[in-house]
Amino acid sequence: MATILVTGGAGYIGSHTVVELVKAGYDPIIFDNFSNAKPAVLDRIKQICGRRVPFYAGDIRVYDQLAQVFAQNKIDGVIHFAGLKAVGESVNKPLEYYDNNVNGSRVLLQVMRDYGCKNFIFSSSSTVYGEPDALPLTEQSPIKRANSPYGQTKIDIEYMAQELQHAHPDFSVVLLRYFNPVGAHESGLIGEDPQGIPNNLMPYITQVAVGRRECLSIFGNDYPTPDGTCIRDYIHVVDLALGHVAALNHCLDKAGVHIYNLGTGVGYSVSDMVKAFSKVLGHELPHKFAPRRAGDVVACYADASKAKNELGWVATHTLDDMCRDAYNWQKNNPNGYDD
Ligand code: NAD
Ligand code: UFG
Repeated sequence: MATILVTGGAGYIGSHTVVELVKAGYDPIIFDNFSNAKPAVLDRIKQICGRRVPFYAGDIRVYDQLAQVFAQNKIDGVIHFAGLKAVGESVNKPLEYYDNNVNGSRVLLQVMRDYGCKNFIFSSSSTVYGEPDALPLTEQSPIKRANSPYGQTKIDIEYMAQELQHAHPDFSVVLLRYFNPVGAHESGLIGEDPQGIPNNLMPYITQVAVGRRECLSIFGNDYPTPDGTCIRDYIHVVDLALGHVAALNHCLDKAGVHIYNLGTGVGYSVSDMVKAFSKVLGHELPHKFAPRRAGDVVACYADASKAKNELGWVATHTLDDMCRDAYNWQKNNPNGYDD
């Protein structure tokens, strides 16, 4: 089976994808600098998979560190998760974001080209669509100038990879635009472990649920939506991981640019999320309304039919599954991988 280099494979989505790659018979190799991950995740992956997954500590911005992996292994394809992802932080640290994300991706693509590896799968985001003109979002929806350096790096990397494919037509470039990944592996062994105060909704909710934080602030209840709170397309991280396996199965060695939305196609409001989570918890999650957060789009959800028709992939986990698995992970690991 094919050997797949997974940059950022120790992170949240990367670790779940490594597990599903092993299950599907691929041979993943993890490459990560642990800037936003803990080494403990490697043992957890081993517990789930029943075998150790090869691992290199390194930074994608350092050519020689990546080249060593390609020199020592025949890499058939790369799934590229490594990067910085905090929208708010990126506003204050734009250079760090362009360096890690855009420059890091450039170095990675250069190493791939030099070593003749032609399969590239990239973690893009629905953020490339900006504030949508129409919903649901299809892959044809216009790309809008991002309202954060983070979002702009996703757009820049998409263009860079497409331009490389144009110059080297035998490359297969897959751009996967994720909607809102949440939840955790059902074992409760791996999950999302943000450092500091969580920026994202689900980890904030789970930390309130286990008593690490007092109360969830819902940012804005005066949006033009049925209940006044923002709408997103939340997708279980295991479905997302399986989306990568489906993309590999379909696009490996298939020259061209392949773009897919990975979402469920269903939008839920922040209040819907609080209700669903409270049901799993058995009592109401402490929450209050707070002012709007700068930069939030009102509503965003996918038309995921292209992935269904071409990859044979659909998200199957329900909102209850997402809440149950996220809570199970946080209950088992109240302080994340530090336990
Ligand atoms: P994460 O922070 O958990 O994982 C990223 C991993 O990359 C971490 O393990 C980190 O240590 C590593 N890393 C960062 N910079 C690196 C570098 N220079 N060299 C080597 N390793 C490096 O994030 P995640 O949620 O798993 O996201 C993975 C990818 O998916 C990111 O590119 C992110 O932008 C993208 N994405 C995430 C979301 C989301 O909501 N989580 C949504 C859309 C897209
Ligand atoms: N929210 C709250 N309270 C919180 C945290 C979030 O009310 O404490 C609300 C937000 O205002 C928003 C919704 O919950 O309405 C979802 O917010 P998230 O921060 O969880 O997710 P975003 O949609 O803002 O962004 C996420 C990732 C981005 C990615 C985007 C699309 O953070 O990196 O999904 O994939 F680009």
